[in-house]
Amino acid sequence: MRTRHRTTRPVRTTRPVRSARPVRTARLLGSLLLVAAAGVSSFAAAPAPSGAAEAPLTPLGRIVPAPMKAEAGGAGYEITARTRIRVGSPEERRVGEYLAKVLRPSTGYELPVTTGEGGDGIRLRISAEPENKVLGGEGYRVISTRGSLTITSWSDAGLFHGVQTVRQQLPAAVEKKTKQRGPWRVAGGTIKDMPRYGYRSTMLDVSRHFFTVDQVKHYIDQAALYKMNKLHLHLSDDQGWRIAIDSWPRLATYGGSTQVGGGKGGYYTKAQYKEIVAYAASRHLEVVPEIDMPGHTNAALASYAELNCDGVAPPLYTGTAVGFSSLCVKKDVTYDFVDDVVRELAAMTPGEYLHIGGDEAHSTSHEDFVAFMDKVQPVVAKYGKKVMGWHQLAGAEPAEGAVAQYWGYDRTGAAEREQVVNAARNGTKLVLSPADRSYLDMKYTADTPLGLSWAGLVEVRRSYDWDPGTYLQGVPADAVMGVEAPLWTETLSTSAHLDYMAFPRLPGIAELGWSPAATHDWEQYKGRLAAQAPRWDALGIGFYRSPQVPWPAR
Ligand code: ACM
Repeated sequence: MRTRHRTTRPVRTTRPVRSARPVRTARLLGSLLLVAAAGVSSFAAAPAPSGAAEAPLTPLGRIVPAPMKAEAGGAGYEITARTRIRVGSPEERRVGEYLAKVLRPSTGYELPVTTGEGGDGIRLRISAEPENKVLGGEGYRVISTRGSLTITSWSDAGLFHGVQTVRQQLPAAVEKKTKQRGPWRVAGGTIKDMPRYGYRSTMLDVSRHFFTVDQVKHYIDQAALYKMNKLHLHLSDDQGWRIAIDSWPRLATYGGSTQVGGGKGGYYTKAQYKEIVAYAASRHLEVVPEIDMPGHTNAALASYAELNCDGVAPPLYTGTAVGFSSLCVKKDVTYDFVDDVVRELAAMTPGEYLHIGGDEAHSTSHEDFVAFMDKVQPVVAKYGKKVMGWHQLAGAEPAEGAVAQYWGYDRTGAAEREQVVNAARNGTKLVLSPADRSYLDMKYTADTPLGLSWAGLVEVRRSYDWDPGTYLQGVPADAVMGVEAPLWTETLSTSAHLDYMAFPRLPGIAELGWSPAATHDWEQYKGRLAAQAPRWDALGIGFYRSPQVPWPAR
């Protein structure tokens, strides 16, 4: 089944934006009951631990993503010049050092990370106690009392997520890089938290415009703050090939030599790619690399004439059309190419998945598309990875264990949807990134200076107000592995551009991936989201001040 043609037409001002789905009363009532049953705090502030309240105390649990359970109570912990970060194992130390790096510049405190015994200070503990195990491989508990702030988890990933919670409980000024006035207090009580989904992703398109290693690291830090755990890197497309492949060197040196608009482009050396992978891992994100095939391949076709059916290399491409390129499905050399690329990429990718694209193959016949996927999926398995593909993979024969990424939108045809639903019923897992909800490159309104609008205008509420568990009718809830917020970059070329399109929508998709469905409530969410604004200001994130959100005055 062919997809709709994705275009980069100018904003359609005539097409009304579909209003957000109303919250069903029954669901809302159910949510309130569940929240009450779970003892989620009503966000009443705990008493100040000492003296007059100089800095506003963030009520326990008033964070993004919403925690599973927050029980406020008692005096909370205050970080002072005497605070130590107490760790035991090397894993605890790594998370402790990370926390210290966040806290030291703004607090001005020494915050030694120490293995010394003691019941006070900030205590980081990984242990297999039943209370931790029940929260799974990414869950954690934060216990804030006058004497100590304890984060416990079954794993270092959970400990790291707990640290993100503590960051958000502290005043926003903690994010600044120079010494600020405290006090540095965390409200008293206990948070127990674990994710709804194990796959919480954002994608960065480094092909349409190239982004440097430092820019990618910056984006990773932003995703980590909201407990995302996957970074999907769109490494190849018509406009640029961005990863060095030793057996086909011109892919990077020539295919990576430009970008949309004709700039100089760029590519990651293998060492640089590994540096990104390692940095992401240090923030508990797994890199999912994508080589988009058989369409979106002009950069490769331009680099090697033999990959073209007619043996003639096309010129490099710097426009924004889609659907015009295809690898030559009938040539043997195509599969030598795929084997080499997948082998080299898999060897430097510790993560489980390798994304093979498959979207908008409008210049490949359906028969060829199916034949291509039949040959390429086993190559991914041969090199020890699981196949991910855009949901057009469902139109071929998804391999055992393959994951399809749904990127449809309100005008996606019923037949195409049905194909995805059937694949899910037959065991293919889904990651949901509906283009008119989670695509971070869609304009917010017709006036948004950046972005595209082919899937519609996506304001903050629309982006947040859907349920991954019920979004695709007929899909078994357990077929949904998680969500992704893709950031395509046809119109985006700087980190400031990325910030403006990702914020405030990225935290909303992160919340859909993390928080229990019972906490889903726009009215409540928009307040928590608004409270993030001073943090973004402190971090230098220039975000879109949506009129839908009650931002605090600056
Ligand atoms: C896509 O937006 N072409 C996956």
